[in-house]
Amino acid sequence: MQQLLQMQALQLTILVGTMTGTAQLVAQELELTLEDADTVVKVLPMDGLDASVFSGGGLFLVCSSTYGQGDVPDNAKALYQSLQGARPDLSRARYGVFALGDRTYTETFCNGGRRFDAILSELGAKRIGDVLLHDASAGTMPEEVAVGWALGWLALCREKLREAA
Ligand SMILES: Cc1cc2nc3c(=O)[nH]c(=O)nc-3n(C[C@H](O)[C@H](O)[C@H](O)COP(=O)(O)O)c2cc1C
Repeated sequence: MQQLLQMQALQLTILVGTMTGTAQLVAQELELTLEDADTVVKVLPMDGLDASVFSGGGLFLVCSSTYGQGDVPDNAKALYQSLQGARPDLSRARYGVFALGDRTYTETFCNGGRRFDAILSELGAKRIGDVLLHDASAGTMPEEVAVGWALGWLALCREKLREAA
């Protein structure tokens, strides 16, 4: 973890699980907000990814919507199943979750993001901050909520990584 802080800039990978592009838009806005001299942001759609994306450790933000019966979106399924199947040790990974959902789906609200939170923590990754649950029926734009939340989350990440170093 020390390595994360000693490098010139903090490297953040945003992993995007989306069906209709909202989470991708959120990730792009986050990239614009967070990228600066001290922070390098990489946005990676989950398509084609597997558990090995976490193998080098580091800092991740999972940005995922919810579909079906509270499932992860289609482009996130292979990654989610790979984590469940391979069960790698993710103790070198730190992560946050921005979950997109809709409270009208009472039983499964934001389950896509919550599922990622559960599997990542089960595999030893450490979450920084609370899972942010965005409700599409609340009338707020997810990208605006994300931008309002992100700088505080990143400051918390720096604090936690410093403590762990
Ligand atoms: C067919 C369908 C099923 C959905 N199922 C759920 C669900 O089970 N739980 C939930 O919280 N949101 C659910 N949603 C809401 C989406 O997750 C939400 O609108 C999200 O912002 C979409 O983001 P995306 O464009 O990145 O996929 C569903 C939406 C649709 C269209």
